[in-house]
Amino acid sequence: MPDTTPENREFAGYCLPLRGESDKLLSETDRGTPMGDLLRRFWHPVSLSRDAGKKPGLVRVLGEDLVLFRDGGGNIGLVHKQCPHRRASLEFGRVSERGIRCCYHGWHFDTDGTILDIPGQPASVETLDKVKQNCRLGAYPTCEFRGLVFAYMGPPAEIPEFPHYDAYDIPDMVMSPYMAEFSCNWIQVLDAIVDPLHTAFLHERQFTEGFGTVGEYEFYERDKIRFLGTATRRVKDNVWVRVNELILPNFTQSGAAFSTDGTQRRLFGRSAFTRWVVPVDDVRCIAYAWGNFGERGDPHVFNTPEGMERMEQGEPINRSYSERQESPGDVEAVEGMGRISDHFAEHLVASDRGIALYRRRLKKLCRELDKGKPPPQPASLNSGAIHTYGSDTVVEAPARAGLADTELLRSVNEQVMTAIFNGDRYSGERRDQHICSSLQTLENGFRNS
Ligand code: FES
Ligand SMILES: [Fe+2]
Repeated sequence: MPDTTPENREFAGYCLPLRGESDKLLSETDRGTPMGDLLRRFWHPVSLSRDAGKKPGLVRVLGEDLVLFRDGGGNIGLVHKQCPHRRASLEFGRVSERGIRCCYHGWHFDTDGTILDIPGQPASVETLDKVKQNCRLGAYPTCEFRGLVFAYMGPPAEIPEFPHYDAYDIPDMVMSPYMAEFSCNWIQVLDAIVDPLHTAFLHERQFTEGFGTVGEYEFYERDKIRFLGTATRRVKDNVWVRVNELILPNFTQSGAAFSTDGTQRRLFGRSAFTRWVVPVDDVRCIAYAWGNFGERGDPHVFNTPEGMERMEQGEPINRSYSERQESPGDVEAVEGMGRISDHFAEHLVASDRGIALYRRRLKKLCRELDKGKPPPQPASLNSGAIHTYGSDTVVEAPARAGLADTELLRSVNEQVMTAIFNGDRYSGERRDQHICSSLQTLENGFRNS
């Protein structure tokens, strides 16, 4: 019997709500909100290194207005914007050999927020020392790594080790830092990484032809903070297994953008980008990343500003409205949802399972932190770097008579993922070799069966 509720009939525009409601637990990231507190337990990139210079720069991260600079000694300062004396903005401060001096009355601060000098005061040394002891400029620890500046903005006693991913150690890979800004909530941008189906539609003609094929989709949840979304596609006699990866709260990788189309054999090719989606505030975010170029990543010819924009979102970023309509990229898809998407008005289906899984886990981590349990940090499975899985594998696996191809694709997916997971007991190049030789053995079996 047809459903005749007003919301479920033809021309139901008048009956349906114009707006839903955002999921505040996911979308709000100011200090004191559950997600804001969770995010503050991790290192995040906050700037490109080249933007940390002698001139103080304004940056906004997790709803906080901050000032970034590099002093004469080469140390990076990431400090609260407002001077603790009478609140002048340090964006107009003077960066010195050590730290920064406020423009208004010359208070001088070190990069860790310590007051070095309060000039022009008749008070005794003791009184000045007391002010220095009781007053600080808010500052955050930073770590500069391969052209990106990372910061930790959480409780000082809980600072985690700076995580070292295996993506940093791939031989002959050139890593070029970039950033891409989005005028919408960070979750909208993060969602895309565990949504492998969207590439078959949004990116149908933007990367390589193979992306336009709808495949079989599978999702894996591992270690409580790692989510993988795989797309397995048939390209003639080959099967292409692409693995997109999210490590909570916001680290993302996938396979290559341009060097894989499923026609060429590839065993555990690595991610085109290593990337974090960092909230600026609740209605803006920035993807900070490295584009990865080399035999295991994307071709060096794409190591240009435009190449990285295309890698990030399928198309160059600054385009006319008609160009954006003609061929929308990720920016158009995610910003078009509005500044903060109405999660309670969504209708998730099977291909959104990865999104549902990771959002649920993210909310759980928030609730656990609220009860005093700190979130798990990305950790090494052995003594080496932290394993990552974003990759492309293309093996020859011709269709078989008497076996539905969807069944075959699912089986290849399962076997390829098992081979990749079995490499967990090794690290670095040894892991790579182990995975590649297991995939080779699998492929021999696919060819001969
Ligand atoms: S407001 Fe900064 S020194 Fe006075
Ligand atoms: Fe995309």
